[in-house]
Amino acid sequence: MKLKLALCLLIAQWSMFNGQWSMASAQTPVYLDPSKDIEARIDDALSRMTLSEKIAVIHAQSKFSSAGVKRLGMPDFWTDDGPHGVRPDVLWDEWEQAGQSNDSCVAFPALTCLAASWNPEAAQAYGHALGEEALYRGKSMILGPGINIYRTPLGGRNFEYMGEDPYLTSRMVVPYVQGLQSVGVASCVKHYCLNNDEEYRHNVNVIVSDRALHEIYLPGFEAAVKEGKAWGVMGAYNIYKDEHNCHNQYTLNKILKQDWGFDGVVVSDWGGAHDLDQAVKNGLDMEFGTWTNGLSEGASNAYDMYYLSKQYQKAIVEGKYTTKELDEKVRRVLRTFFRTTMNKQKPYGFLCSEEHYQTARLVAQQGIVLLQNEGNVLPIQPAGKKILVVGENAIKMMTVGGGSSSLKAQHEISPLQGLQNCQIVKSSNCQIDYARGYVGDVGGSYNGVTTGQNLKDDRSPEELIAEAVEKAKTADYVIIFGGLNKSNYQDCEGHDRKTMDLPYNQDKLITALAAVNKNTIYVNISGNAVSMPWRKQVPAIVQGWFLGSEAGTALASVLLGDTNPSGKLPFTWYESLDQCGAHSFGEAAFPGIWREGKKVIDEEYKEGIFVGYRWTDKQKLKPAFAFGHGLSYTTFKVSNLKAQNPVTTDGNMTFTIDVTNTGNIEGSDVVQLYITDVKCSVERPMKELKAFQKVTLKPGETQTVTLTTDRRALSFWDEATDDWKAEPGEFVAWAGNSSDRLTCKVKFTLK
Ligand code: BGC
Repeated sequence: MKLKLALCLLIAQWSMFNGQWSMASAQTPVYLDPSKDIEARIDDALSRMTLSEKIAVIHAQSKFSSAGVKRLGMPDFWTDDGPHGVRPDVLWDEWEQAGQSNDSCVAFPALTCLAASWNPEAAQAYGHALGEEALYRGKSMILGPGINIYRTPLGGRNFEYMGEDPYLTSRMVVPYVQGLQSVGVASCVKHYCLNNDEEYRHNVNVIVSDRALHEIYLPGFEAAVKEGKAWGVMGAYNIYKDEHNCHNQYTLNKILKQDWGFDGVVVSDWGGAHDLDQAVKNGLDMEFGTWTNGLSEGASNAYDMYYLSKQYQKAIVEGKYTTKELDEKVRRVLRTFFRTTMNKQKPYGFLCSEEHYQTARLVAQQGIVLLQNEGNVLPIQPAGKKILVVGENAIKMMTVGGGSSSLKAQHEISPLQGLQNCQIVKSSNCQIDYARGYVGDVGGSYNGVTTGQNLKDDRSPEELIAEAVEKAKTADYVIIFGGLNKSNYQDCEGHDRKTMDLPYNQDKLITALAAVNKNTIYVNISGNAVSMPWRKQVPAIVQGWFLGSEAGTALASVLLGDTNPSGKLPFTWYESLDQCGAHSFGEAAFPGIWREGKKVIDEEYKEGIFVGYRWTDKQKLKPAFAFGHGLSYTTFKVSNLKAQNPVTTDGNMTFTIDVTNTGNIEGSDVVQLYITDVKCSVERPMKELKAFQKVTLKPGETQTVTLTTDRRALSFWDEATDDWKAEPGEFVAWAGNSSDRLTCKVKFTLK
């Protein structure tokens, strides 16, 4: 009898850990039964957890993990950065890498490049591939994507984000989140919200109108939550309405959870919690940290010192709080467990698969932007030619550095290698020479991951320029790879850039090379716009972003014409900072002014809703390159814009537009539709992007594209009613292939 019972228990246990309850379904606890409703499973699990177990799941237990509930068979929860690849493992309690040999990854292009592809399908593939890498590495949440709005080109983390436009960001973030979560890995959309610059990011208190908040800074997050159904959101470091965004009553409880119905977890940015009472009450669900070092803070677990740890538990025991807020947090954590760690239907993960490299390559190829191409210098005609490659960024590995998005890439093809490996080059009897041109950042390590490159070069700037100029004189083409890098005060977390200028004497170098070689091509590697005082002297300019593992391959394919460029700028490329709204109101608007006591710095977004092209339109400024700009090796005509319903009562509109490839080779273009509210009781932007589509066309081919917009596309945020409002009247829709090349328009009316 005893033996029989033991056997039964054994079977039950075996079944439990294999997730197969068919044999012993009578004993299946509800929380473990996948056929049961997820909310019922959460109720059941919650009812079984002790206070200590509940406290344990709402805060970190290591740099990137929090506890599961072992007694109930729930594994620990592992997160990892994000957003361009799966970050290498660090030590349990320190930022140094763990030194594993199986945690190198595919580095995908930075999100600025993804946004520049204007291709939601590419974003879906990106999220999916990243999710598979995360699964393989045992991560249940990726700390990304980052979608803060590009407010100024000085923003240190702009490269991790999707540009200046709330609509473009919304359309690109949704498929990224869906792709990632389709394999059972949670996305943690960050940094919610108003974290638009880096300097003193824990101290900055953003002052912004409700209109700008809703029209510019929130739509990406709203789309990620409502349409993408993101399972996680990361609170930002900075302050809004005098509360840190990791525990902010207004942005988390009211907007995110109440208004948008977010049912996932709010995760603090690392070390972003500052107050027990606010952490308990203001919407934070899981606390993670940066500064707590369990090794030096004592023998006992330093994570016990977190706000949502022992002190919260003690306060509950002492009756200061009931378990109401705690249970709400735990419910959200459990929901996340059932979606990720406890999801037995998850597919297998893959690390560094050929398919992932292909995705990285395709996104890179689609995101590279041909900014300028005077005299059709590009694509390069290599047969029998001498190409001189110049610049540190032609050889520097860029996947290491930049802060938390730093990666340990399994491989990274530099631009120079990409050109050398390129089949077209190899089969063309073409010679490639290299000159350093400038020395920037010769380091190449982050948290113990090193590139292994030795970039030291002690020559003076004059010597470096002289060498490059000498070689350029006899070259058929000169390709300069310059721009920024991932070191401090460049495209890097923690600080903003100090100027919009190119660092390391590059302006001098570029001017000198353009003076001796008429086929000079400048490829800018960065996530931010840079000033280009020499722009008129350099015939071809390409924006090359941070492209990850396949950087060189993708760049070479565009430069040599194997890929016809189709990227479009996701931000306005100002001539200088004077053209940027954020820099037009003195230091109060950027970088802000310290309050008495030096704890808080008030930064008032005085330009309001007029960010990016909304500002240059209003001020009638001509930027160096407009939002949405990007050339091709073929030409396109966008024409015949028609509103299918010139009068709308519900605000829904359908437009058709013809796009024709008027050149000689196949190519892709992005049809962009902008809307103007002709007369309105509040000031509105001259035009706003409201729909777009990327199309691929053969020479001579025409495609009629159908674009739809909804009532929101006609609306502004009405501060009087705290809601969206579309005022009846006349509107104009414009279509074209850049915000400054809108070749057709149509009027319509909202009744
Ligand atoms: C960054 C986050 C990142 C976290 C974990 C923070 O410093 O702001 O974006 O996900 O660290 O590395």
